[in-house]
Amino acid sequence: MEASHFTLPLLLLLSFSYLLCLSAQMTGTFKCGGDSPSMCHSLVGYSSKNATTLHNIQTLFAIKNLHSILAANNLPLSTTRDQRVNPNQVIRVPIPCSCSNGTGVSNRVPVYTVKKDDNLYFIATEIFGGLVRYQRISEVNKLRDAALIEPGQKFWIPLPCSCDKLDGQDVVHYAHVVKSGSSLDEIATMFGTDNTTLARLNGISGDAQLLADNPLNVPLKACSSSVRNDSLDAATMLLPNSSYVFTANNCIKCSCDASKNWTLSCEASSELKPSKWQTCPSSQCEGADNLLISNTTSTSCGPRSCAYAGYSNQTIFTTLSPDSCPDSGGPGNYASTVSSSFSFVMVLFQCALLCLCLF
Ligand SMILES: *[C@@H]1O[C@H](CO)[C@@H](O)[C@H](O)[C@H]1NC(C)=O
Ligand SMILES: *[C@@H]1O[C@H](CO)[C@@H](O)[C@H](O)[C@H]1NC(C)=O
Ligand SMILES: *[C@@H]1O[C@H](CO)[C@@H](O)[C@H](O)[C@H]1NC(C)=O
Ligand SMILES: *[C@@H]1O[C@H](CO)[C@@H](O)[C@H](O)[C@H]1NC(C)=O
Ligand SMILES: *[C@@H]1O[C@H](CO)[C@@H](O)[C@H](O)[C@H]1NC(C)=O
Ligand SMILES: *[C@@H]1O[C@H](CO)[C@@H](O)[C@H](O)[C@H]1NC(C)=O
Ligand SMILES: *[C@@H]1O[C@H](CO)[C@@H](O)[C@H](O)[C@H]1NC(C)=O
Ligand SMILES: *[C@@H]1O[C@H](CO)[C@@H](O)[C@H](O)[C@H]1NC(C)=O
Repeated sequence: MEASHFTLPLLLLLSFSYLLCLSAQMTGTFKCGGDSPSMCHSLVGYSSKNATTLHNIQTLFAIKNLHSILAANNLPLSTTRDQRVNPNQVIRVPIPCSCSNGTGVSNRVPVYTVKKDDNLYFIATEIFGGLVRYQRISEVNKLRDAALIEPGQKFWIPLPCSCDKLDGQDVVHYAHVVKSGSSLDEIATMFGTDNTTLARLNGISGDAQLLADNPLNVPLKACSSSVRNDSLDAATMLLPNSSYVFTANNCIKCSCDASKNWTLSCEASSELKPSKWQTCPSSQCEGADNLLISNTTSTSCGPRSCAYAGYSNQTIFTTLSPDSCPDSGGPGNYASTVSSSFSFVMVLFQCALLCLCLF
């Protein structure tokens, strides 16, 4: 008797929190908040049922330079804009992400112009490949009647994204449209993560809650870099495996290759014309005139290499890796102890959140 008095309110409470957890997923929005930066670069996985071209995708998502799509997909720079994209082929599209109210959304782009015979559902599920729900388009554009849209009308498509760290680590968030019949395990394997991380990040408890044709928030591990926090590209140098980027006004090309120890490798590049600068500044290493960015030299204390460390309006920063002489390794250990106990606390905290969500 006593037990059942206790159980009913508890059950009600539990199913209520369960519904709350579920609704985070149902609305197709990604969490974004806390101590993460409020703006960052994010990726969406776009595919179309019809064959298309890179140029069409570039136009649809309002991407300024074709090379940023090529770079996100590790395609050669020589690829032309007329390159065919097959039906259901997935192209990674970079988007600027903005976080507010705990939700991440593309920063007022892309803007779509309604064509004859379009309706919101078709725009969301077909034209934008299921990356957004039509209700969200209606909500953010404050449309009075979602059923009444007219050719020529323009509105903003809120694509899902996030800038959150994962257990203290920087990651690139990728919106993956779930195929029907796939499982968390399968998706996790495809993107180098695990099913519990995916479940936790998306506020779901298992495969039964995976929604086909809706976006799932997938965290992609990023290469570590030596870019300074005061560099103009500090916020954009997070690259997942198998991608590259041009930075420092196109004077530097950096790429991330998991097989190179998840370390960003950067070098001077003349593949693109410099933007803003007439010519590229020197990529000589500060403190070692004989070294250029990406060069390594051997010293009596082991190899030292010169890495890209960011840029300002005037110059390109470099950093020389510390030599490995025995008496120069001072404060390093302390820092790593602090950060690992910090991530341990973060893991506990996230587990507690997950438990709240699961029960
Ligand atoms: C943030 O959320 C509050 C309450 O849920 C709402 O009133 C407000 O309009 C939201 N702001 C934005 C920018 O969405
Ligand atoms: C795909 O092609 C079909 C047949 O031509 C057309 O009806 C449909 O609108 C196209 N879908 C998109 C998203 O353009
Ligand atoms: C993750 O996969 C393991 C093994 O396949 C399974 O036991 C577990 O229930 C899965 N967890 C979730 C959240 O799907
Ligand atoms: C940038 O890095 C320096 C040292 O590396 C640190 O002292 C400073 O607090 C950092 N600034 C920000 C805004 O993170
Ligand atoms: C990195 O990408 C390459 C090329 O796509 C792939 O072969 C490799 O398995 C990936 N490695 C990891 C660890 O994701
Ligand atoms: C790989 O990276 C880690 C930390 O980023 C470093 O400690 C380790 O020495 C690196 N290994 C190699 C072979 O470069
Ligand atoms: C230094 O790096 C540049 C590219 O940044 C390369 O062309 C050059 O061969 C390298 N020099 C040495 C000695 O490794
Ligand atoms: C860099 O240049 C831009 C415009 O060319 C200017 O708005 C900005 O303030 C400059 N920043 C610094 C740190 O000088």
